[in-house]
Amino acid sequence: MARLDVIERFHGISFPGHLHTQDSLQSALNFPFQDTDIVIVSYPKSGTTWMQQILTLISSRGDPHLSQTVPNWTRAPWLEHYYFAMLLEASPLTPRVITTHMPHHLLGPALQRSKAKVIYVSRNPKDVVVSFYHFHKMANFFPEAGSFQEFLNSFLEGTMQYGSWFDHIKGWTSQTGIMNNLLHVTYEQMTMDLPGTIKKLSSYLQSPLLDHEVDNCVKQCSFSSMKDNNMSNYTLITEDILDHSKGSFLRKGKVGDWKNMFTEELNQYFDGVFKSKMEDCNLEFVWEEKHKVETQADE
Ligand code: A3P
Repeated sequence: MARLDVIERFHGISFPGHLHTQDSLQSALNFPFQDTDIVIVSYPKSGTTWMQQILTLISSRGDPHLSQTVPNWTRAPWLEHYYFAMLLEASPLTPRVITTHMPHHLLGPALQRSKAKVIYVSRNPKDVVVSFYHFHKMANFFPEAGSFQEFLNSFLEGTMQYGSWFDHIKGWTSQTGIMNNLLHVTYEQMTMDLPGTIKKLSSYLQSPLLDHEVDNCVKQCSFSSMKDNNMSNYTLITEDILDHSKGSFLRKGKVGDWKNMFTEELNQYFDGVFKSKMEDCNLEFVWEEKHKVETQADE
């Protein structure tokens, strides 16, 4: 099933037909979650693959074997992809780790029927849109990216594939006080303090790790280690689908890379739209890299 040019419209949101069908999207909304399930929820380009890697390593208590032998999409399959059931069956992780990009207004009801532990991963939207722009250039299942300005417009209008970033983040994070099984983790927290974030996640998952296990997780989850690992760097995907000559999935892995794409004018435009759309949301964002906790993996 290539369907590289097909777009599936579902509840007003576009999804790549290469990965989704109407049936697979509808099945996601009716999925019978188990109380033991761990669910990664994110808008694309927010650090999803990084979280899949972290949860694999927590589940393996720092042992790299699964993260080096099983692709990330089998370890933590996407709920709404058409081959989800097959991959879930093949996933070696217990408890099961399931990934989704679905917005809260669609998936919330299915999750409320279980005590599955949800981890919402977010990233500052300027870095998200830049990362997504570069990914569109290499992924042949997305429409042409066009100019960065056009892409940014469509991101701010919420008309791009996977829907509005604003609806996604506001929908999920508005649940933090309501769903007691939801933990919000940011890309910037992972960047600035990976060991601390791994400890926090392992406690939340009631599987606290020993210090040396945390160190082993950190090593396998560093940008360089994931970039060299073909079970997490997407090089197993063939050129007709992901054109590796046009870029890398693990591209830069930085906080604040947006500054290389945004002109002063675009930045002002973004800030204006951001301010009005986020008026009803008091989340704080980190827009540039600050003090980072040094780890052995950085040396
Ligand atoms: P960049 O394009 O800015 O480099 P997702 O998995 O949600 O699609 O997100 C992909 C983004 O996460 C890419 O961002 C990728 O490089 C980054 N990423 C993945 N693993 C990472 C890691 N270990 N450290 C830092 N960034 C990582």
